[in-house]
Amino acid sequence: MINGQKSLFNFSETDQNIRFKTLKEVEEVCKTCYKCDLSNSRIKVVFSDGTPEAKLMLIGEGPGKNEDETGLPFVGRAGKLLDKILLSQNITREKEIYICNIVKCRPPQNRVPVPSEREACRVYLEAQIQLIRPKLILLAGATAVKGVLGRKEPISKIRGQWFDGPFGSKIMPIFHPSYLLRYESNEPGTPKYLMYQDIQEVRRSLDAL
Ligand code: URA
Repeated sequence: MINGQKSLFNFSETDQNIRFKTLKEVEEVCKTCYKCDLSNSRIKVVFSDGTPEAKLMLIGEGPGKNEDETGLPFVGRAGKLLDKILLSQNITREKEIYICNIVKCRPPQNRVPVPSEREACRVYLEAQIQLIRPKLILLAGATAVKGVLGRKEPISKIRGQWFDGPFGSKIMPIFHPSYLLRYESNEPGTPKYLMYQDIQEVRRSLDAL
């Protein structure tokens, strides 16, 4: 339970997580996973990008077309915007962030992953969190917020706030970068402006660790 809500994570020291000793092992199992139907249509499993040394983790929804083709998360238009926003605070994949998704295989037509698909993939995300132990976790978009915090409020209501996460981490919901692509302007009050504000707060919190 996180903040009194049912969350994706219970980290009950029971099931498969225990058997994963390294991220490499998790990745290998994940790459040959056929637990749900997304495995039938995928080209590549999209496990992660960035540095496992990071104190900051970003969790998105699931791979799109470009990600499915390359095997890397957030490499399409939304990913490029994400990189630009992160770079405004000197946050790069090489040095400071680990990026992954709620589901590791592309949902057909980029539809939202259904609960059974999230559930099938849960063990991999939990293992990523257990092994990386990020201090700060960003949840990009509603699927990540629902999956991890179990909260259903609109992102606009809870973005930019810190919630308690597993292993003493702090979790912040942020807008999904695909949503931001719909807006040109970054004038005060617009979603893009608020996203830049949120990433400034992330920078401050990273610096204070
Ligand atoms: N959207 C996501 O949520 N994740 C990706 O990896 C790419 C786009």
